[in-house]
Amino acid sequence: MATFLKTTDISIDGARTLPGEYYTSPEVYAQEMERIFTQRWLCVGREDRIPSQGDWFAQEIGKESIIVLRDRDDVYRAYYNVCRHRGTRICEEHSGRFAGTIQCPYHAWTYGLDGRLIGAPSTRELEHFDKSDWPLHAVPVATWEGFLFINLADEPEPFDQAWAPLVGRFSRFNLPNLTVVRTIEYDVKSNWKLLFQNYSECYHCGPVHPALARLTPPTSGENDLTEGPFTGGYMVLNRGAESMTLSGQSCGVPVGDLADEDMNRVYYYAVFPNMLLSLHPDYVMFHTLWPQGTDRTLISCSWLFHPATLHDPDFDPDDGVQFWDMTNKQDWHICEQSQLGIASRAYTPGPYSKRESLSAQFDREVLRSLGHRVPK
Ligand code: FES
Ligand SMILES: [Fe+2]
Repeated sequence: MATFLKTTDISIDGARTLPGEYYTSPEVYAQEMERIFTQRWLCVGREDRIPSQGDWFAQEIGKESIIVLRDRDDVYRAYYNVCRHRGTRICEEHSGRFAGTIQCPYHAWTYGLDGRLIGAPSTRELEHFDKSDWPLHAVPVATWEGFLFINLADEPEPFDQAWAPLVGRFSRFNLPNLTVVRTIEYDVKSNWKLLFQNYSECYHCGPVHPALARLTPPTSGENDLTEGPFTGGYMVLNRGAESMTLSGQSCGVPVGDLADEDMNRVYYYAVFPNMLLSLHPDYVMFHTLWPQGTDRTLISCSWLFHPATLHDPDFDPDDGVQFWDMTNKQDWHICEQSQLGIASRAYTPGPYSKRESLSAQFDREVLRSLGHRVPK
């Protein structure tokens, strides 16, 4: 059991928000793409996005496109969507099923699902040409609790090492066996960091989320991960509230073998740099964030339920989905307003309150990752 720290125990005295260029400068954005999104493990969704052999999807990360697939041995593999002949992007669609091979549409070079080049028309007469020298560029894939991750680094930190603070932490939530019931994509005119900072505090919950604040008092709960790339904690459901739903009632059977205290809590974790994980007694929600520029982020939000919920007429998953769709939109709107204000010539860094200690911690993680000076 983790030692729970009171939010107020974390020293952030004097912490200020980041200077404006962190939200507006193409140079800073380029550094973030290179030193964060090309270096860290990124969540690309659930394993059941590709449930059958040959299934694939393409994930864009900045200018890159990565093909993630399930091969004939049920092994997950990922490749740059770049033909080894003349570099053409191979897959134009966002997802599909390969019938055994991957073929470039330009000159029909053909690759196995293991990435090997197995067909290259009219290359036999080429001297010194050996197909085995020209496999697709592979990208490492990892899985954790039913989620898929990829890493674009030349020498990625081993996933198990990077994920050590989270491994085993949520076992009781039965995450690998939950089913995606709904996914909603959002296109938000805000820098990706504002969305992370916003998720990391409930100082804004009273003014921005009146319905949420009625279910879980904004000052309830404690943080239990306060250092490093993964931060978060829990909030406590009011007496009479069973979950975060429009009705306040449960919208599913418990997702796992939960302790009594879990039945009264909602856990929120910011998983640097692109995942937000929210665990409720009866469903789990996760977001993945995909920066598109200094002032735009695509967000995918999915809701996971225990399979038994789907056949139980007593429950309506939509009660939870709609609650968070409403709450998400409140968050995205206020983050868009922040982006607009921060872009003003009048903006200067402001003081974080003690209730925003995890937002300040997130900023420090960004600065550390960029190799920029981290204020004390
Ligand atoms: S560029 Fe792909 S086959 Fe020529
Ligand atoms: Fe919020």
